[in-house]
Amino acid sequence: MKVRRAVAETRQRLEAAGCESPEVESEILVAHLLGAARSEIALDDSRKLSKAEERTLDLLVARREEREPLAYVLGEWGFRRLLLAVDARVLVPRPETEIVVERCLARIGTLTEPRVLDVGTGSGAIALAIADEHPGARVTGVDASSGALEVAGANVVRTGIAIDLRTWDLFTGLPEGPWDLVVSNPPYVLPEEIETLEPEVRDWEPRLALVDDGQTARLSREARDVLDGVLVVEVHEALADQAKGLLDELGYLDTEIRPDLTGRPRIVEGRWHPA
Ligand SMILES: C[S@@+](CC[C@H](N)C(=O)[O-])C[C@H]1O[C@@H](n2cnc3c(N)ncnc32)[C@H](O)[C@@H]1O
Repeated sequence: MKVRRAVAETRQRLEAAGCESPEVESEILVAHLLGAARSEIALDDSRKLSKAEERTLDLLVARREEREPLAYVLGEWGFRRLLLAVDARVLVPRPETEIVVERCLARIGTLTEPRVLDVGTGSGAIALAIADEHPGARVTGVDASSGALEVAGANVVRTGIAIDLRTWDLFTGLPEGPWDLVVSNPPYVLPEEIETLEPEVRDWEPRLALVDDGQTARLSREARDVLDGVLVVEVHEALADQAKGLLDELGYLDTEIRPDLTGRPRIVEGRWHPA
């Protein structure tokens, strides 16, 4: 089968399955299969898929038809300057979280060797991106999920970026500091919201990574024991005021709400220094 036909058939199948961007995704899947860039396969119709490639493509598309996230089907996903391994043990890193990293880098940019703690590190996205973009930073990522930490460990090997990883439940407190920065993208989907989400999220991403079970509030409290610097937390847009209000109540200084790329209030920040 020729490449163009493979793309067209893939697009039709993804469209019928209700995927949001069948055109783009069909090109991405065929390019991934052939180890080529998307632009290459769009232009070149001379190449044919072998029978083995056709079978592999069929399996990939069948997974996507089940609404498995494209990132899991590909087994990797871009985040900032990194291409990270991802699978169903971790949340797919989101573009809004790239802004969280941006904010962290802005806050620690003047420090030569900032000590950074990423709570709920998942794939290691935030921790690795900070270490990548601030080479002096000494970064630790913690997560309650051993499966997530295995993926984060694979990403340490894959990227060659050194960070420390630890199994840790934030409800037991946080690893001893002092940390110059504590950052987190904690689970913040409200339990009643789950059923309204896209199947890719609702049926595939880990519930522990999604559903708010009080992690944001607990993190805000616990961070005071280990922080001598800044707390940066990604929050639900409907709960940004509440999250900032809690930081004010707890005695954090210079608290503020920052927008994501689409202008929605998604990041809450504050400073804490021990007495
Ligand atoms: C929204 S995901 C964020 C993953 C990654 N930091 C990112 O931004 O893509 C939240 C992460 O918090 C972890 N988590 C949930 N509850 C936790 C707890 N009590 N202690 C530590 N980590 C927890 C989950 O396993 C998950 O990896």
